[in-house]
Amino acid sequence: MAEVTLDLRNVPKAEAYTQLDAHIRAVLDGVTDDVAAMATMSALVHHAFGFLWTGFYRVVEPGRLLRVGPYQGTLGCLEIAFGRGVCGTAAASGIPVIVPDVNAFPGHIACDARSRSEIVIPVHAAGGALLGVLDVDAEQPGAFDDADLAGLSRIVAWFATTRPAPSATLG
Ligand code: SME
Repeated sequence: MAEVTLDLRNVPKAEAYTQLDAHIRAVLDGVTDDVAAMATMSALVHHAFGFLWTGFYRVVEPGRLLRVGPYQGTLGCLEIAFGRGVCGTAAASGIPVIVPDVNAFPGHIACDARSRSEIVIPVHAAGGALLGVLDVDAEQPGAFDDADLAGLSRIVAWFATTRPAPSATLG
């Protein structure tokens, strides 16, 4: 298993995300547990780029409520209603959202006052059900672009891949 946390801050983004996705998939080889995958992705994405906050909000009431999942960073809000903030907007629409300036986004939820820009990617299971969203925040304005959108979307596509079901019985 590849156990190293990569530092990709000096690597061009497209190449960085290619390396990061390969690394994450190697670490998750044989894993079928979504929470373990969310924790692994949060840690590796966060430290690869030095983001402010990186983590998942999970759908706990479809169409209504997100609750925080595995993350790295300072304390995140525990729950976000669909339609509220950047995460709730992405969850309600099922479409990724890039916010270059969080202060210009109406209804942005400021969990950490240092956050200046943000990207939120909806996370779908195989079959298309919304599992949650991946939320990444940065201290720099305009930190996220189409390369982040493509790279992070590729990483969370893991949840839609067909994986062996966990064994129902032991032995
Ligand atoms: N900024 C988010 C809230 C979650 S945190 O930043 C961890 C939003 O407006 O959806």
